[in-house]
Amino acid sequence: MRVRKRGADAVKVLVVGSGGREHALVWALHRSPLVREIHIAPGNGGTGDLARNVPIPAEDVAALTAYAAQERFDLVVIGPEVPLALGLTDVLQAQGLRVFGPTAAAARLESSKAFSKDFMRAHGIPTADYAVFNSYDAALRYLDTHPAPIVIKADGLAAGKGAIVCRSDAEARAAVQQMMRDRIFGTAGDRVVIEECLTGQEVSVLAFVDGRRVAPMVLAQDHKAAYDGDRGPNTGGMGCYAPAPVLDAATLRRVVGEVLQPAVDGLRELGTPYIGVLYAGLMVSGDDFAVLEFNCRFGDPETQVILPLLETDLVVVMNACIDGRLDKIEITWSSRSCVCVVMASGGYPGSYQRGYEITGLDEAVQLPDTIIFHAGTKRQNGRVLTAGGRVLGVTACAEDLNDAIARAYAAVARIQWPGVMYRRDIGAKGLASA
Ligand code: AMP
Ligand code: GLY
Repeated sequence: MRVRKRGADAVKVLVVGSGGREHALVWALHRSPLVREIHIAPGNGGTGDLARNVPIPAEDVAALTAYAAQERFDLVVIGPEVPLALGLTDVLQAQGLRVFGPTAAAARLESSKAFSKDFMRAHGIPTADYAVFNSYDAALRYLDTHPAPIVIKADGLAAGKGAIVCRSDAEARAAVQQMMRDRIFGTAGDRVVIEECLTGQEVSVLAFVDGRRVAPMVLAQDHKAAYDGDRGPNTGGMGCYAPAPVLDAATLRRVVGEVLQPAVDGLRELGTPYIGVLYAGLMVSGDDFAVLEFNCRFGDPETQVILPLLETDLVVVMNACIDGRLDKIEITWSSRSCVCVVMASGGYPGSYQRGYEITGLDEAVQLPDTIIFHAGTKRQNGRVLTAGGRVLGVTACAEDLNDAIARAYAAVARIQWPGVMYRRDIGAKGLASA
């Protein structure tokens, strides 16, 4: 770990999480002259270069709370949704710590799809038509009058796998059965949302939020399907690029006015103001857009392409959110493009082997404007081994999208392990619509 000699007022930061998103957060925080020291719980095989990896799981609220009290962090940044939903922010704030991330009540926008949909309906936020069911029989009866294509969603958190787009009536019935009877997502599927299937292009609109104000980031486009051409099963995200040309400036202003601002105003009116990153996953068709989901955190792999384009110091932005003064700072973005290609274990998102040695990392990282964000990796005796489904986020920036894609794939070509898989078409959608 590199501890920096900095001014006496420089801060000590705890990042919670272990994925590519959290490596990108550590990378951006480490660039800040305002940061003295970074710890990450639990981190991964890449984060240890820039931060101290602390072996506490991101879901262990009690251990994280004890560690934060002991180490007296000046700032805690929570990456994943589970600790947010479990109320880690609430507990740390009660200890007087400064936390970047919403409270459990505000995080319900992501942690309960039924809450989120009812909230959107109540606040006039455009979203697909839907109904909520606590009963298996009632859900099946609804399907009698609402034919496929239709989308079945588990109400609770399901590691990004809780939404099933059903192309046939039989598939829809099977999805309800799996969630409500077989309980493949545990209690998360005891309640389901059944919603209209939308078509169009997806885009991720992430914004910094200070309880009252909204500052959108550069737009990013994820690639959720496992295989080229958006085929195959849904994954956590196989790659991303930014900026995505899916919304023009005028439409983005409408998204702020019709989606993000009403959401932030609505939560404040409920007495649960929102601080952190609010992420709206949108389906866009022409000038029309609708919210597919809200997330209460940075996206993964969106963060890996957004933070390299952020010119303003991330600590300055996070402090402005926590202190409710986003209007007092200017946030600037590079005009370059950034691409992240996720390299995954063969078999992902199904079952896969771990423990293969990854070669070529040293060579790949020498390439211009290239950053290798680690996700499912670990270090053992100086070697880097695979330790998860999504293993690396190979990221590159350039003046335009075409060059950023070429750079990212040049780095990918140097990295190897048995069974490695990745998509060959990350960013191609951005070139097609540019
Ligand atoms: P969610 O977890 O709600 O974002 O859903 C995961 C993915 O399922 C989204 O990124 C979309 O690709 C797809 N999806 C979710 N809701 C819908 C919908 N109403 N219509 C079409 N696709 C959807
Ligand atoms: N990239 C999708 C997500 O972070 O939820």
